[in-house]
Amino acid sequence: MAIQWFPAHMNVTKKAILERIKDIDVVIELLDARLPGSSANPMLAQITGNRRKLKVLNKQDLADPVQTEAWLAWWREQSDTGAISLDAGERAPAQRLINACRELAPNRGGMDKPLRVLICGIPNVGKSTLLNTLVGKKAAKTGDEAGVTRIEQRINLASDFYLFDTPGMLWPKIHVEKSGYHLAASGAVGKNAYDEEEVALELANSLKGPYPHLLASRYKLDDVDAIPSMHDDALLTEIGRKRGAVISGGRVNMQKAAEVLINDFRSSVMGRITLETPAQFEAWCAAAEAAEAEKQAKKLARQKAAKRGTRDALPDDETDAED
Ligand code: G4P
Repeated sequence: MAIQWFPAHMNVTKKAILERIKDIDVVIELLDARLPGSSANPMLAQITGNRRKLKVLNKQDLADPVQTEAWLAWWREQSDTGAISLDAGERAPAQRLINACRELAPNRGGMDKPLRVLICGIPNVGKSTLLNTLVGKKAAKTGDEAGVTRIEQRINLASDFYLFDTPGMLWPKIHVEKSGYHLAASGAVGKNAYDEEEVALELANSLKGPYPHLLASRYKLDDVDAIPSMHDDALLTEIGRKRGAVISGGRVNMQKAAEVLINDFRSSVMGRITLETPAQFEAWCAAAEAAEAEKQAKKLARQKAAKRGTRDALPDDETDAED
């Protein structure tokens, strides 16, 4: 597992959400539209219980519009869940957010029953930018946009609509390995938590199937049809070569090549990209769950064997270290 993060503040955020959640009607989760599955916090359902959810696919301007539609439909299929897409270019997003939340909780509204909404999301997903846009509208006092005031962590988007902010939060362990790489590629994870070359290889792997034309055009690769079947390592090497990351003896500096690919993805110079489809994400989650179940079964078997005093009798591969 290449991505290792230690979000020390995570428990503080979790506690803050747990304290607030009893008074919350709708939970908005801001997702990165380029990784709409991987950027969803798997702990959130546990923390927020059966609250209604609004998934906001943010940074849609960077994502593949066809995939954004597919993901919106997928999220809307989940129970008690709405989904909209958004980006920082939208100058007055408040009304759309309010409407989507009201649809999810039609029983709330009016001064005596204000709609109380919690907003959360991973670091770098664009939450501060969105909140600043919402708050800024008040100062600008624009016509039909709902009034916005900010009281500590509460923002009043309308007189009967309260939005509570939370700090950006990751979760303690990434079970879906590919998600970890996508999060790292997006910039949600601190640089010290991953190896750039490893992340870039996985990024190349995610890009070569759906976006060979974007790769070919950005890096002037001749044979676009060959790209999907290229080995990840060969693809990253070629990217490095085309971008001048060459060292003595004509060898490619893979670290430099990795930085080039990751930076190009983050700045969206290749074009609009979504790294995962709903079907892929479902398959990764199912595989991760199966692996976890197998690990737990082995752990249980070891514990039983230890109790019986027969641990030494177990084969070596069943005494793997646990985390
Ligand atoms: P956070 O609070 O969730 O951690 O994220 P923040 O708003 O700080 O945004 C992280 C980066 O994402 C910022 O870029 C911001 O400009 C960019 N961003 C936010 N929303 C959108 C969006 O809808 N589309 C695009 N394309 N970018 C968005 P930065 O380079 O880190 O900083 P800056 O120099 O742009 O401010």
